[in-house]
Amino acid sequence: MTALELGKDLLGLESLTAQQIVLILDTAEPFKEVSERAIKKVPTLRGKTIVNLFFEVSTRTRISFEFAEKRLSADTVNVSSQGSAVQKGENLVDTARNLEAMRIDMVVIRHPSSGAAKFLADRIDSNVINAGDGKHEHPTQALLDLLTIRDKRGRIEGLRVCICGDILHSRVARSNIWGLLKLGAEVAVCGPRSLMPLGIEQLGVRVISRIEEAIEWADVLNILRLQLERMTGGFIPSLREYNRVFGVTVKRLEQARHDLLILHPGPINRGVEIDSAVADGSHSVILDQVTNGIAVRMAVLYLLSGGRRETAEAAMGLNV
Ligand code: CP
Repeated sequence: MTALELGKDLLGLESLTAQQIVLILDTAEPFKEVSERAIKKVPTLRGKTIVNLFFEVSTRTRISFEFAEKRLSADTVNVSSQGSAVQKGENLVDTARNLEAMRIDMVVIRHPSSGAAKFLADRIDSNVINAGDGKHEHPTQALLDLLTIRDKRGRIEGLRVCICGDILHSRVARSNIWGLLKLGAEVAVCGPRSLMPLGIEQLGVRVISRIEEAIEWADVLNILRLQLERMTGGFIPSLREYNRVFGVTVKRLEQARHDLLILHPGPINRGVEIDSAVADGSHSVILDQVTNGIAVRMAVLYLLSGGRRETAEAAMGLNV
């Protein structure tokens, strides 16, 4: 594998080089245009079979992967734990091996356990793409965040990016930290001490304790929701108190740079981590992130299936 190839799987950004991350972002650029066509379909992955294995709920990631696959003309199947033999006790590897026996090419997996994507990738021949594993990584989310920042600011290097909220439980935070640092951004995290991983500074990020300071410092805020489904104890006194101390509100944004970018991976909890008027306001690029998600996922699928950046435009020259 050369520095400008991705290898068999996409499991996280920690294991990618800056060159590989830039390769994915650059390859996503020409794929954006496919979604703007009247006929949103190119023959690039015709004949490939992809299984979307979602063992946790998802709206954006699952639908975005499915659109990306269908716009590339792949054949896709969606499997969730509900309604599959997982409910009868079948384990992850047996599920995947049975799918491989049906001659699939790729698996996109979301799973509540950290490390599940790598566990699977080590045991099957198909390409594996991590669509979020527990608290570990969510690489395609970070890639679409990076693409959106680069689109809006023309660069990543030198920008100050603060990730705000529930850092402890967030795979989005971890993938963003790896990706942003590798591409030369200054990275900070801001949130309650109870939701801040011990020793997070050792990754090379700054810790900001007050949201007001984060807003003044940052060129970009990436605001995370509280992952209540992963909390086993009382990490915060109440949602109301969290909003009072850490909510990104219209009033607090008065101290922001005029060109501050507000990102949020979704789903948004309006009135908790972010005011509705901020989520829908002029700083927000939240829906641009969603749009970019399809191009990023098309690029990842294309590169993992052996496609090359130089031939991406030619590979999608024709509508189907
Ligand atoms: N951003 C994200 O992962 O959203 P979903 O959980 O809806 O996929």
